[in-house]
Amino acid sequence: MNGDNSFVVVANRLPVDLQTTPEGTRTWQPSPGGLVAALSPVLEQHQGCWVGWPGISDEAPEPFRTDDGVLLHPVRLTAADFESFYEGFSNATLWPLYHDLIVPPAYQRQWWSAYRDVNLRFATEVATVAAEGATVWVQDYQLQLLPGILRQLRPDLRIGFFLHIPFPGADLFRQLPWREEIIRGLLGADLIGFHLESGAVNFLELARQTEGLEVTGTPTVRSVNAQVHTHDGRSVGVGAFPISIDPVSLGTSAPGGVDKLRSRLGEPTTVILGVDRLDYTKGILQRLLAFEELLESAALDPAEVVLLQVATPSRERIEQYRQARSQVEEAVGRINGRFGRMGQPVVHYLHQSLPKDQLRTYYEAADVMLVTPFKDGMNLVAKEYVACHEDGSGALVLSEFAGAAVELEQANLCNPFDIESIKRAIATAVHGLANSPETMSERMLMMHHQVSTHDVNLWADSFLESLAETQS
Ligand code: G6P
Repeated sequence: MNGDNSFVVVANRLPVDLQTTPEGTRTWQPSPGGLVAALSPVLEQHQGCWVGWPGISDEAPEPFRTDDGVLLHPVRLTAADFESFYEGFSNATLWPLYHDLIVPPAYQRQWWSAYRDVNLRFATEVATVAAEGATVWVQDYQLQLLPGILRQLRPDLRIGFFLHIPFPGADLFRQLPWREEIIRGLLGADLIGFHLESGAVNFLELARQTEGLEVTGTPTVRSVNAQVHTHDGRSVGVGAFPISIDPVSLGTSAPGGVDKLRSRLGEPTTVILGVDRLDYTKGILQRLLAFEELLESAALDPAEVVLLQVATPSRERIEQYRQARSQVEEAVGRINGRFGRMGQPVVHYLHQSLPKDQLRTYYEAADVMLVTPFKDGMNLVAKEYVACHEDGSGALVLSEFAGAAVELEQANLCNPFDIESIKRAIATAVHGLANSPETMSERMLMMHHQVSTHDVNLWADSFLESLAETQS
């Protein structure tokens, strides 16, 4: 039986996680990550239905509507699904493979089988809730088989797919023992979107190589000019749709909040900020090492500068995430031991997720923002920081390997694999603010203009309009 939702988004996670407080009460908390931050305002605007996992094993509460009018439809994952589908295939196989092998991906047949099962379960749920002829927008690497399964279950639907992480080069992707199945799964969609043209180019090459399919056109940004022609006579659009932020939902800084924060940090001349999920792709350790060497060489003065690093807990049971955390925490302890003073650490480290309003105060207070991932699909933290500096203050140190570097070219770009390059970018930003504030301000204002004219609505509207134009 078909449901009555004409616009359905399906993502591994719902925008809220069901959590148990230490007192044993159940609460819904915002889910981590950029996907949820970007999609929530879009769903509110379309009053759509969101199908996803409630963030806890073995539970699926009844569907309910949020205060913002979004219908949430929870999908149950068992503890075994959590291990094999989520921690295993999604985050220990696909995640490292798609992030250019920063750690080696593990290939396990049993994880693949769980990935197929869970994709089938999500597809079955979507097939139940979607109205006749509805638009279904499938999100991210956890659900790449879903478009293909859903097309078989419900050929009447218009199906879009968007990948929120990088799509690797063909030579890397071809390692995957189930490469044909993934490509075929994605090709069940009418439109496949990537952040960057390079991701779209990689996908087209693979469609040609692994499936022997005809490809026409070249990928363009926010429109569809490239197509894959499938064996069953369909044409699948492929394009680049760089995701962005909703400046309105960035929270509000409490009056006097910035001054209070700076005073709690010991009134430093320069506040440097990092905000990341604690993930090995984010380059947090290398950033700390760069900071440490700058203190060591006296290029930065520990009496004048502090680094505030927020690291949101993420995928904590996976070995490489544990390792990344212990390396980061060891470095924080060492740097404070070497350069801090009684009651005045030089690195302030928070391993927790913060409410939006507090984060906004941090962004506003930060003179220099460090976003130095080894590889990142887009990185919305960089755009959030820029959006909070409409007065032209501040400086952004940004990795060349973050998708955001394509749009934010006035940032202080660095190569996160090269500690000297990170050091140079930090020092240039700090000294630039002191010695050439006008140039720095011009650069920040140009980036601010880019982010405010290319927000999340442009991303969603351009994708959904392109999807509506595809031939079914
Ligand atoms: C990235 C992914 C999202 C994911 C988020 C948080 O942004 O693209 O799909 O939801 O990280 O990760 P988690 O594993 O906690 O869902």
